[in-house]
Amino acid sequence: MKTVTLNNGMEMPVVGLGVFRLSPEEAEASVKFALENGYRSIDTANVYFNEKAVGRAIKASEVAREDIFLTSKIWPSDFKRNRVRPAVEATLARLGVDYLDCLVLHQAAGKYLEAYEVCEELVKEGKIRSIALSNFYGKHYDKVLAHCKIKPVFNTLECNPLCQQHKMKEILDKDGIFLESWYPLGGKGNTSIAGLELFQNLAKKYGKTPQQIILRWHIDRGYIIIPGSKSPKHLQQNLDLFDFSLTEEEMKQIEAIDQNKQRLAVVGWIRPFLPLFRANYNKQQ
Ligand SMILES: NC(=O)c1ccc[n+]([C@@H]2O[C@H](COP(=O)([O-])OP(=O)(O)OC[C@H]3O[C@@H](n4cnc5c(N)ncnc54)[C@H](OP(=O)(O)O)[C@@H]3O)[C@@H](O)[C@H]2O)c1
Repeated sequence: MKTVTLNNGMEMPVVGLGVFRLSPEEAEASVKFALENGYRSIDTANVYFNEKAVGRAIKASEVAREDIFLTSKIWPSDFKRNRVRPAVEATLARLGVDYLDCLVLHQAAGKYLEAYEVCEELVKEGKIRSIALSNFYGKHYDKVLAHCKIKPVFNTLECNPLCQQHKMKEILDKDGIFLESWYPLGGKGNTSIAGLELFQNLAKKYGKTPQQIILRWHIDRGYIIIPGSKSPKHLQQNLDLFDFSLTEEEMKQIEAIDQNKQRLAVVGWIRPFLPLFRANYNKQQ
């Protein structure tokens, strides 16, 4: 598995499996199949309500814990000094592990600086090995960078050929922080990007699927990817990306279709629902 070296020296696989909007049954089956077929990075979150299922799959896969880069996220309703530690401990218990490779602050909302400080303590204690951000832009990103003692290793952002994140990539490169693309294919059930003639033609040229061309574009841009899938065939295809790369001219053609448009704008409307999410973490199967 191809890896990148994070700013704390840890190796992280370039391709992982994301389990957003997979039911516990789907997540368990996908994670087990993925680990048994070469994946070594799994991305979940307390708000995906499938951490227990991910934990069962890890156990069943017989892949050694230390060979897996395991990421989970905590939600802003837990961004309070006294809530971060119990939230992380609950996540560890649901996953059935005693550390996370990466803990992500899921949204730039609430008291994220307070939460970040507690995360730094948890790194020192070995409960988490690295900290990352999710959906941090502009002043929120700048505040974390100004306050942190331990740098985040990546910032995970909605990113795909219609939302290429050139501006954030430049900033993150300067700060030595990776960009991890979520919705790398445009999101669950969205085939509109893969359907574009550009990707159909490139797929024919390289003998790959349009989705593999899109995922290779991410890799050639230097992004980490966590495509979601419940299909064994797609899971295998999403690892089979390393026997070709796109030319400079093809990268330019893809750059030209950027609309700089996010499909999922998250923070504002979600605030009233935060306590609701929190009450449900433990109901997951
Ligand atoms: N931090 C955040 O705020 C945030 C937000 C959203 C998502 N995420 C993370 O990003 C991950 C990826 O997002 P996502 O799963 O929603 O969207 P995605 O990876 O862009 O797309 C997943 C969709 O693509 C299909 N697919 C996957 N591989 C394929 C292939 N090789 N050929 C054809 N179709 C393929 C899947 O269907 P099949 O199941 O049929 O393969 C599914 O419908 C999530 O799982 C989550 O971990 C993070």
